[in-house]
Amino acid sequence: MKADPVTADPASPPPDAEPTSLVLRAYRGLPTERTPVWLLRQAGRYMPEYRALRERHSMLELIRTPELAAEVTLLPVDAFGMDAAIVFSDILPPLAAMGLDLDFVEGDGPRISNPISSTRDVDLLAAPPAEESMAGTLEALRIVRAALEPRDVALVGFAGAPFTLASYAIEGGTSRDFAKTKAFMLQEPAAWRRLLRKLVTVQADYLLEQARAGAQALQVFDSWAGRALSRDDYLRYVAPANRELYEAVSTAGVPVINFSLGVSAYLADAAACGGDVVGLDWQLPLDEAWAIVGFDRPVQGNLDPIALLAPWRELEVRIDAVLEQAGGRPGHVFNLGHGLVPQTPVDNVRRLVEHIRERTS
Ligand code: CP3
Repeated sequence: MKADPVTADPASPPPDAEPTSLVLRAYRGLPTERTPVWLLRQAGRYMPEYRALRERHSMLELIRTPELAAEVTLLPVDAFGMDAAIVFSDILPPLAAMGLDLDFVEGDGPRISNPISSTRDVDLLAAPPAEESMAGTLEALRIVRAALEPRDVALVGFAGAPFTLASYAIEGGTSRDFAKTKAFMLQEPAAWRRLLRKLVTVQADYLLEQARAGAQALQVFDSWAGRALSRDDYLRYVAPANRELYEAVSTAGVPVINFSLGVSAYLADAAACGGDVVGLDWQLPLDEAWAIVGFDRPVQGNLDPIALLAPWRELEVRIDAVLEQAGGRPGHVFNLGHGLVPQTPVDNVRRLVEHIRERTS
């Protein structure tokens, strides 16, 4: 089902009304009274409250129980005053709904025990409607949205991009060289296209349902294409599917963030696939990356998450460098260039948010 922003909820303002939340204003390139900030992986193992919940529940239990997922989503918003919440889930549960046997293994990351190894496996993949298969996350979005409504904190939904999801489906986990994925791509180009098309269908439906459930922005994570592929292979084997995905979700009535990690060698090509906002990774200085994307397009980023392991003085210098490169232009949401790591000191997260509020007010 397509999200219809006009009729979906008669109580919500029309889609062309100017939003009041800082993040949503910046995502539309509108001026804000200060720079808004939220962080990738802001709910996770660096937070003691999260670790306590993980002692009692598996990762998939947290994700699939709406009340628990909502609670985790709100942890960093309550603790640090983030300007946006990102719904607690992962990019991989939709693969489980397609028939892949997913688990998160302690200390080893995600594992799929029956990865795709033949063209037949591709054709056996299911494409269930997100309304049924992702009901827990959709309900978590409704709960969080109701809790955030009086607070002007934006709610972000997300999904994985086709290449990144295909790489997990074929490798069965995170990979060093993506050899299996690239071999499949090169040996079975027709089945590769069918696989990516199926992933686009499932992810587009899931993203549109997230907007209907209350997500006010949608982020697409392409974590591994930039690490795995040359520009020519990206343009030939991945960009068409990304364009189809961004085209399909452009009807959601909410801004879409295109976050493609490790694409400095072809950032313009990755950005051209679509999305209203470009999420920048940490490799290029923000001003250089923004110039490539075009200053008329809002951006999000791009502090190196490992900078949060530095002493405060060094961290402060690096935060200020990002702010300086943003130059006070409208359309910048401060964020990291990749996710927070578990060893991050909580105090550095708190000070980072406070510092950005003070520096840019
Ligand atoms: O706070 C948030 O940002 C929302 C939650 C979120 C998670 N994963 C929770 C998570 C989001 C947006 C993701 C996206 C995700 N997941 C990506 C894309 C972004 C990126 O980091 O590149 C990818 C590639 C994954 C796949 C994934 N999930 C990996 C590789 C791992 C293991 C590595 C790790 O950090 O542990 C996960 C597990 C995961 N996803 C955890 C969390 C909080 C840790 C699981 C635990 O609690 O044991």
